[in-house]
Amino acid sequence: MIKKVSNSTTKLIDQFGRTVDYIRLSITDRCDFRCVYCMAEEMTFLPRDEVLSLEECARLVKIFVGLGVSKVRITGGEPLVRKNALWLFEEIGELEGLNELVLTTNGSQLEKQAQDLKNAGVKRINISVDSLHADRFKKITRTGELDKVLRGIQAAKLAGFENIKLNTVLLRGVNNDEARSLVKFAIEQAIDISFIEEMPLGEVGHARESTFCSNEETLNILKSEYTLTASTETTGGPARYWRVANSATKIGFISPHSHNFCERCNRVRITCKGELYLCLGQEDKIDLMPLLRDHPNNDEPVIEAILASMAIKPKGHDFDLRRTEAAVIRFMSHTGG
Ligand code: 5AD
Ligand code: SF4
Repeated sequence: MIKKVSNSTTKLIDQFGRTVDYIRLSITDRCDFRCVYCMAEEMTFLPRDEVLSLEECARLVKIFVGLGVSKVRITGGEPLVRKNALWLFEEIGELEGLNELVLTTNGSQLEKQAQDLKNAGVKRINISVDSLHADRFKKITRTGELDKVLRGIQAAKLAGFENIKLNTVLLRGVNNDEARSLVKFAIEQAIDISFIEEMPLGEVGHARESTFCSNEETLNILKSEYTLTASTETTGGPARYWRVANSATKIGFISPHSHNFCERCNRVRITCKGELYLCLGQEDKIDLMPLLRDHPNNDEPVIEAILASMAIKPKGHDFDLRRTEAAVIRFMSHTGG
């Protein structure tokens, strides 16, 4: 058990006056799915010693919480395929000063793990679902079983998380005709759903410009079916929310191509290799793994590096779909979604 950290005042403020109180930590680059927009069919994963150990992950999160971070999202890859991942959730769930421990998952392991995760202190959970047709789901994820994920969603509902949200990436000609049926499903299940525009990350085996589906288009389709009211709610990220009349459901639209949210950005990302990325769309990073490993009993050098990183957090990002190369050649599974 790691020692509790006491609640502290926020120390992470960047040169533009933005407070960083939210970290997204990828705990593995591995996944049991191979989604077309995320991974190649044949993937070579990192050797174990190039990935932060769970103990190193716990230490790092504790350091960040000591610096005023109050929200932690665990991502991957698929975080729940990492052996003993539950131990990490339990450790983080114990930290004083942390308000929100949340998880992004593909849902494949939830049938088994939802209740334990809830008990460990996970408050909210995002589950990726791109299609409600088993054959399509298989086509998009290459290896995923829709039924298993649907059972995972039911297990999450039973476990009683504060919030469950589906994350959907719509691709033109693949699943963009499912916006309405996915929202219908979310309403029936009394859960939320967010549509994420495809981001130019990593090398993927399909032409991105032709599959790109704008949230504006999706919103218009949904407005023809549902009464939507814009919500003022924000998480400091690139999402806009709408309430669906006569339902418990909120619909989010995540537009990573929009620059509008950068000025309110409150987050940094840590890859499973311990790289601290200051912005999803920029290369600015600091390698924390060598510091963690060179100073196993002294957090100061790690703290200093994190504090110093605030000076290089960029003002905003720069994605451009028309570029032939991805703006950032980095797999989402390393950085975390
Ligand atoms: N563009 C948009 N979303 C992506 N995700 C993974 N790769 C991409 C990409 N290139 C999504 C997953 C999941 C979330 C973690 O990130 O579908 O919902
Ligand atoms: Fe796995 Fe998520 Fe990437 Fe799909 S998007 S391959 S579920 S990490």
